[in-house]
Amino acid sequence: METELTVVILAAGLGTRMKSSKAKVLHRAGGKALIEHVVDTALALTGPERVFVVVGHQAEQVREVLASRGVGFIGQREQKGTGHALLSGREALSGLSGRLMVLYGDAPLITGATLRRLVAAQQEARAAGTVITAMVDDPTGYGRVIERGGAVEAIVEQKAGTPEQLKVKEINSGIYCFDAGDFWRHVGEIRTDNPAKEYYLTDIVEIFNRAGKSVRALRIDDPAEALGINDRIELAKVDAIFRTRKVEELMRSGVTIEKPETVTIDPGVRVGMDTIIGPFTQLLGATTIGGQCEIGACSILEDSQVGDRVQVKPFTSIAGSRLGDEAQVGPYARIRMGAQLEGGAHVGNFVELKNTRLGAKSKSMHLAYLGDSDIGERVNVGAGTITCNYDGVKKHATKIGNGVFVGSNSTLVAPIEIGEGAYLGAGSVITDNVPSDALAVGRARQISKEGWARKRRESRSS
Ligand code: UD1
Ligand code: MG
Repeated sequence: METELTVVILAAGLGTRMKSSKAKVLHRAGGKALIEHVVDTALALTGPERVFVVVGHQAEQVREVLASRGVGFIGQREQKGTGHALLSGREALSGLSGRLMVLYGDAPLITGATLRRLVAAQQEARAAGTVITAMVDDPTGYGRVIERGGAVEAIVEQKAGTPEQLKVKEINSGIYCFDAGDFWRHVGEIRTDNPAKEYYLTDIVEIFNRAGKSVRALRIDDPAEALGINDRIELAKVDAIFRTRKVEELMRSGVTIEKPETVTIDPGVRVGMDTIIGPFTQLLGATTIGGQCEIGACSILEDSQVGDRVQVKPFTSIAGSRLGDEAQVGPYARIRMGAQLEGGAHVGNFVELKNTRLGAKSKSMHLAYLGDSDIGERVNVGAGTITCNYDGVKKHATKIGNGVFVGSNSTLVAPIEIGEGAYLGAGSVITDNVPSDALAVGRARQISKEGWARKRRESRSS
């Protein structure tokens, strides 16, 4: 089956109803651009050399988004309708025999399983084509599927239908599987004799019927799979469906999600068993989370790897970073740009780590900025510690050895190195390297003047 299936995805339109300067298929829902969803579903059926995307509006940007997937492209310079989009590919594709599947780039919820059923149905029917249809409460805007005696007689567009036809609630999903030979033989017969003056791909149904060939409908139970996106309200609805699919997949695999309707989890995210995800959490990009973790409410994790039994407390932001097993972060922590917490390290409230390794069992519990630093094991970083990693021109590194005690409100002017086991006095500005096991104090010595305050009070009251 794989070798003889060609998939063409229509993605050349601007999408006027989006009211956007961006092509519709580049808008995002469920963590990916719409076109990425459709292409990825197609790639699960057949090889990239058999998947073609028709591009027109912002063709360059669409190609760029899909570049890594190795699919082919067909240019449609002027967008004269869905039928015209296929005509643009006639030269390149009409030599490919077997079956031709057509998908629309603005209908991203269709699943691979349903497309497999479509191919099987078309194979069994031996028809010229099979179209996926669905029954919906409000069919406004969709093409209506007119059936007679188990065959599809016509697909009538909203703008062209009679009042009687527009009452039909069975809609065209825009997903078809054709016999490639029949399709290329007849596609040139599509005309623009409709109110929109477009080449409607849907006219192929009547053309087949006139030629004595049949078209079948595969009606699917879940109308959501057939949803097309034409405006931003539909975009939000489809996004919500994608999010629900993902949280349900995770909950079925043993993840607890509190108030699942509030969380946002991208399709590529993986989460281990018995992890608990709090309300309003966002898990984005290529994030992976181990088992038995707690991800606190309103935390955002992007492209980050989290080990087992990790606790991320509420309102924490983690991007492009790694947390080892049993690490604890937050609440209100910011971990970013290649930061790494090793096993059992703790980071508390209002602590920022940038491009910094915090060794096993080390702690920075309150109010600190640790940037471009390599911090060893069992280090205690006091409240208010700042690494001065930027001199106004360049970034510099800080190195802190195992077992160091950094007193509160220390300022470490990088480049700097603190030897193992050293002790920094609170409030120090450290500008020179500190040897192992030394005490470094870099601040003005305290003076206390006996009776000074009392004398001042007395002189004021007299
Ligand atoms: C289309 C169908 C309609 C179906 C609905 C399902 C036609 C004539 N109508 O209507 O029966 O119920 O989808 O969602 O096919 N495109 C091009 N080149 C063009 C025009 C469109 O590539 O010249 C692409 C668009 O980028 C889009 C897709 O084709 O991804 C569908 O176009 P759209 O204008 O959204 O069609 P609908 O009005 O939704
Ligand atoms: Mg559409």
